[in-house]
Amino acid sequence: MLNIVLFGPPGAGKGTQAQRMMDATGLPQVSTGDMLRAAVKAQSDVGLEAKNYMDAGALVPDQVIIDLIKDRMKEDDAKGGVMFDGFPRTVPQAEALAEIVDVSIVLAIDVPDERIVERICGRFSCGNCGAVYHDSFNPLPETGCTCGAFSEKRRADDTEQTVVARLDAYHQQTAPLADFYQASGLLHRIDGDRDIDLITADMLNALN
Ligand code: AP5
Repeated sequence: MLNIVLFGPPGAGKGTQAQRMMDATGLPQVSTGDMLRAAVKAQSDVGLEAKNYMDAGALVPDQVIIDLIKDRMKEDDAKGGVMFDGFPRTVPQAEALAEIVDVSIVLAIDVPDERIVERICGRFSCGNCGAVYHDSFNPLPETGCTCGAFSEKRRADDTEQTVVARLDAYHQQTAPLADFYQASGLLHRIDGDRDIDLITADMLNALN
């Protein structure tokens, strides 16, 4: 059973690669960012608590995230392994994850900070199927989204000001996790400042 962690700064391409890896591996994507956005939209207790942190580009408290993951991992589709996208993001989250499943590999996507702002500020997605695009780097095909029912969606936290705060949170709280996973021999680094297809190929190779 494979439990993959996709690790990297905001805008590194975790979501983009998760969708491609999902097609190739059949593993479900477990994105704490997507789960939190759904909670905010539903105005649930978790959503109401998370919203202020997300709008400010700060991390949502560990216990909220750990409880979300514990519930998600009870679902049937998680029994055969999953692909974590944007989780864990702190050492306490990684320690909690280790109590729930054995992590098979951590694929760390490296992208320099100066690329991140242009990536995030040009991002949009399909509101129907969730496919991620970029104004310049990954535009919508002339034939439209493959789902055939494209509707454009942009994230409230994809602003230059919030990206700076998200990068700061990444460097302060999340980047130290690389050492945690390096020490357990699970970390596999991928150069994320390249063509999207080349990155996917490297990731799939790393699983073999
Ligand atoms: P989350 O939704 O996880 O956001 P993030 O980590 O900031 O990551 P992104 O979704 O912004 O980027 P990505 O790496 O998926 O990049 P993408 O593929 O879209 O979290 C949002 C918020 O929720 C957090 O700020 C926090 O508040 C909270 N949160 C979530 N999880 C949490 C947790 N575990 N603990 C605490 N708080 C949590 O790509 C970006 C753009 O670049 C796209 O337009 C894409 O088309 C383009 N692109 C992708 N690859 C390439 C490439 N190789 N070349 C050129 N362009 C590319």
